[in-house]
Amino acid sequence: MVQNIYDHPDFFEGYKHLRENASSANRLIEQPALFALLPDLSNKTVLDLGCGWGENCKEFVSRGAKKIVGIDCSQNMLEMAKKENPFDSVEFFRLPMEYVVALPYHFDVVVSSLAVHYVEDFSRLAKDIFQLLQPGGIFLFSQEHPLTTAILDKNPCWEQNNSQEVIGYRLSGYGMTGERKVDWLVDDVVKYHRSFSDIFSALLEAGFSIQAVKEPLPSQQIIEQYPRYQKCFHKPDFLLIKCQKPF
Ligand SMILES: C[S@@+](CC[C@H](N)C(=O)[O-])C[C@H]1O[C@@H](n2cnc3c(N)ncnc32)[C@H](O)[C@@H]1O
Repeated sequence: MVQNIYDHPDFFEGYKHLRENASSANRLIEQPALFALLPDLSNKTVLDLGCGWGENCKEFVSRGAKKIVGIDCSQNMLEMAKKENPFDSVEFFRLPMEYVVALPYHFDVVVSSLAVHYVEDFSRLAKDIFQLLQPGGIFLFSQEHPLTTAILDKNPCWEQNNSQEVIGYRLSGYGMTGERKVDWLVDDVVKYHRSFSDIFSALLEAGFSIQAVKEPLPSQQIIEQYPRYQKCFHKPDFLLIKCQKPF
C-alpha cells in the first residue's frame, strides 16, 4: 500500500512550516546541489517524481523545458502545485511513483527531489524510469542520506560534548535494510532504508551508467550564518545521484 502522509493535516501544516523557512536544509543545501547537476533543459521533456507543490517544476520552466509532468500522491501538494504553475507546458497527475509507467509519455530527463525514500521497491522504480526515458536520458534524484534512513531507534543519534557541541553521530541498522517508522512531524511516518550498494546496484542493474554522486555539505558562509549545520560534517543530510540511460 502507498502511504500518503502529505495529506495528513498536521503533517502537511508542519511540512509547510519547515519548507517555508528560508534557512531550511532543502533550500540551503539540497536544492542548489540538485540544480547544479541538472542537464541543459532547453526544449526537453521533464518528469518530476514526487513533485510536491511544484517548486522545482517552476525552475524547469525557467530553464526552458518544453514539457514538464509532475506526479505526486498527495492531493494537498498537487492543489498548491497547480496554483504555483499556471503554465501550459506543465501538467500534473495524482499518481504514485509505483505506477509511473502508466504515464503516456517518454522523457528526456527524470528528476526527483527527496521522494524516492518513500518507495519500497527502488529496483522496480529504477527499471520503470529507465523504460520511460529516451535513449541518452538522465535520471537525477536526491534522497535522505542512507546514514539517516538507517537509524533504528528513536533516541537522538547526535552525540554532544559537555558544551552541547555535536561531536559525532551514532549509527545503527545500516545493514538492516527495509521499512522504518520515524516520528517526523507526526508519529510513524514510513520511509525505506537502503544501503549505498542497494541503490547503486538497482541503478546499474536497470541499465543506467552513473554520472555523478554528491553528498552536499554547507558552505563556510552557511556555517557562519547557521552554525547548526556544522553537524553535517559528521553526517551529511542528503545523497544525490545523476545517471544516464545509454544512447
Ligand atoms: C519531501 S516532499 C518533496 C517535494 C518536492 N519534490 C520538493 O522537493 O519540494 C516528498 C513528496 O513526495 C511525495 N510522495 C511520497 N511518496 C510518494 C509516492 N509513493 N508516489 C508519489 N509521490 C510520493 C509526497 O506526497 C511529497 O509531495
